[in-house]
Amino acid sequence: MVKAVVLGAAGGIGQPLALLLKSSPLIDELGLYDIVNTPGVAADLSHIATPAKVEGYLPPDDGLAKTLKGADIVVIPAGVPRKPGMTRDDLFKINAGIVRDLATGIATAVPKAFVLVISNPVNSTVPIVAEVFKKHGVFDPKRLFGVTTLDVVRASTFVAEKLGDLSLSSKVVVPVVGGHSGVTIVPLLSQSSHPLPASISEDDYKTLVHRVQFGGDEVVKAKDGAGSATLSMAYAGAEFSFKVLRALKGEKGIVAPSYVSLEADSAGAALLTKELGQELAYFSSNVELGQEGVVKINPLGKITEAEQKLIAAALPELAKNIATGVGFGTEAR
Ligand code: NAI
Repeated sequence: MVKAVVLGAAGGIGQPLALLLKSSPLIDELGLYDIVNTPGVAADLSHIATPAKVEGYLPPDDGLAKTLKGADIVVIPAGVPRKPGMTRDDLFKINAGIVRDLATGIATAVPKAFVLVISNPVNSTVPIVAEVFKKHGVFDPKRLFGVTTLDVVRASTFVAEKLGDLSLSSKVVVPVVGGHSGVTIVPLLSQSSHPLPASISEDDYKTLVHRVQFGGDEVVKAKDGAGSATLSMAYAGAEFSFKVLRALKGEKGIVAPSYVSLEADSAGAALLTKELGQELAYFSSNVELGQEGVVKINPLGKITEAEQKLIAAALPELAKNIATGVGFGTEAR
C-alpha cells in the first residue's frame, strides 16, 4: 500500500498534481491538505474510477496530522507563486514560514516519508526542511528532494523544438544541474540524448540556455499577474513523484536530476565537489533513486567550456540561497 500526500493541494499546482497522482495505479491512498478547499477537491477527485482512496483535510482538528498519517511520499507545492517582476527569492519571506511549519508537521507525523519540495525558492526551502528535520533528530538526507523536474521538462521541449520535431520531446533527456532559479539552472546541453545540430551558432546556444533558465518568466508574463507555471509544474511534479515511487517499489536504475543534500552520498559528493572546485551543502545533479531514496549522486561528467562558465556563474548565487535557507531553518531550531 502506498500513500501519497499533497500539501497545498487546492492551489494552481496542487489540484492538477493531485489529479495526476489520483490517475496513477502506483498510488493506493491520496491525502490532500491545504488551508482552503481541500474537502471539495478530494470529493471531486474521489469520483474518478482509479484505485486511490482520496481524503482531504483543512487545518482544524489536526488536519495536517490526519492527512499525513501513514504517508510514504509528501509533495509540497504550498505557498505563494510569483507575479510579474518578482524573482523566486522574493517569495522567501512568505514561503519560508509555510515550508517550516509543514516540515515540522512531517517531522512529527511521518519522519520517514520521502519529502519532495516544490515551493519556491527551492534553493532555500529544501535547506529549511533539512534544518527542521535536524531539530527533530529525524533528518535523513536520502529522503529529501527539491523538485527541479520542470527545468528538465523545459529543456527536453526546447531542444526538441530546436531539432524541429516536437514528437521527440518526451524522448529527449538533458541533465539540468545546479539549482532551481535563474542562473543557478544549468542545462548540460552537450550531454543531451539528442545532440543539438553541430552548426548551432553561439547566439542560438545562449538563447536556448537562457530560455531553460528563465522559461518560468515566459509563463509569469503570459499569465499577467495570475501566477506562475502550474500545469507544466504539476506534470513535472507528477513525473518526478512517479520515479520516486517506482524506485520505492523496487525498480532499479532510475536516475533523475534533483536538488539534494550532498550528505546523501558522501562518495558522490566528494567527486562532485572536486568537479565544482567548491564545497556546497546542496546541489542538483543526476541522482540514482532506490527504495531508501538517494542511492548515488552522479558527478557532472564531461562538460564543455561554455557549461563550465555557466556552473561558475551559478555557484555564488546558489551558495547565497543555501545560506539563506540554512539561516532561517537554524533560527527555527
Ligand atoms: P497557488 O497560490 O495557486 O497555490 C498555493 C496553495 O498553497 C494555495 O492553495 C494555498 O491556500 C496553499 N497554502 C498556503 N499556505 C499554506 C499552508 N500553510 N499550508 C497548506 N497550504 C497552504 O500557487 P501555485 O501556483 O500552486 O505555486 C505554489 C508554489 O510552487 C509557489 O511557491 C511557486 O513559486 C512554486 N513553484 C515551483 C516550481 C518548481 O519548479 N519547483 C514551478 C512553479 C511554481
